[in-house]
Amino acid sequence: MIWFALWREYKLSIAEILAVFPEWKTVYFSKDILILDSLSKDEVLKKASSLWWTIKIMEIISSEIVQDALNTEWKFKYWISIFWDKKNLKEILNTTKKILKENDISSRFINKDFKNLSSAQIIWEKLVQSSTDYNYIFDFETKYIWKTIWIQDIYSYSKRDFNKDRDMQTGMLPPKLCQMMINLSWWKTIYDPFVWLGTILIESILMWNKKVYWSDLNEKMVENSQNNILNFSKTNNIVLDDYEFIKLNAKFINESTILQDKEIDSIVSEWYLGEIMTQKNISLERIEKQKESLLSIYDKFFLNLKNIDYKWNIVICFPFWELNSKYIYFEEVYKIINEFCNVEKLFPDDFENLTTKAGSLLYKREKQLVWREIFKLKIKT
Ligand SMILES: C[S@@+](CC[C@H](N)C(=O)[O-])C[C@H]1O[C@@H](n2cnc3c(N)ncnc32)[C@H](O)[C@@H]1O
Repeated sequence: MIWFALWREYKLSIAEILAVFPEWKTVYFSKDILILDSLSKDEVLKKASSLWWTIKIMEIISSEIVQDALNTEWKFKYWISIFWDKKNLKEILNTTKKILKENDISSRFINKDFKNLSSAQIIWEKLVQSSTDYNYIFDFETKYIWKTIWIQDIYSYSKRDFNKDRDMQTGMLPPKLCQMMINLSWWKTIYDPFVWLGTILIESILMWNKKVYWSDLNEKMVENSQNNILNFSKTNNIVLDDYEFIKLNAKFINESTILQDKEIDSIVSEWYLGEIMTQKNISLERIEKQKESLLSIYDKFFLNLKNIDYKWNIVICFPFWELNSKYIYFEEVYKIINEFCNVEKLFPDDFENLTTKAGSLLYKREKQLVWREIFKLKIKT
């Protein structure tokens, strides 16, 4: 059995894991944990690096810590975390240390102040490499021991976010959300018709995608994204198999030469979310105005995709707003979706209430008033 430790936005984490490993049997899930069965450690490790919403991955072990320690030549450095139950970690650590001592094993636990360790500490202490990060789950009095086999490289993330020349005010699409959307799409080739700075396509290249296509209404954005995407590939020594970009109003997506000439299997895009709104200028009137102008794009986009019989995946996000601590959803867009699209399921039937009633996932970021509602769609035939 394999246990995935989830991020705070656990619904997005679960959707992503199930998209990457669709064939596996779910044993249990909660807002912290997803446990899957019928898969091997090797399979997990092969795909783990494309999971961006998983904190760490553990496999269940049948042995006790002391058995592991007996095979260690050096001082046995280990770490225990406890999940689910408020069992006394101090007592567990002291007892374990005593047992190890009785077995003539010199050891040291790393837990400071008898607390669970952070990802940063686990990485720093190289506990995954030494295979000595232990996680206990108690189901009543039965103890299950899990060993960490993979951990998210949080350092490469913060570096990526820092390096990007992007302005937070514009509500830039976070790389992690791009990656989740890419994972949901089952991509091979990706087209972003609202490309802006090219964030989605750059993240897809980092996920080993070698064919990228894009368009935007704004000439400057077509140029900027071209520079960003091609420079990124060059500086990272990645040779793209194919790419193409055009200036295009997405309302007339049926005229896209890219869709006509290339085999695109996924449209993944953060749509134009409308104007940036701040606490000072947000109002119901302004939101309604935004909705109106956005609907005129969305409406034509889907109609024209239907007109060209686009059969493949569409993973997109629409905006919704927070006004006076209330959420204003873009319900008018649901009508368009229902007219032209089927909403694809993101979870098996027994995963109750993980999506909204509309079948979407929500992504909110603190201090922003325009948020994102993510859908996976297919055009109705
Ligand atoms: C918020 S950005 C999209 C973000 C982008 N996917 C990213 O993460 O970098 C919106 C983009 O949509 C473009 N846009 C707005 N209306 C459009 C339309 N009708 N057709 C095509 N692009 C449009 C804007 O020029 C802008 O580049």
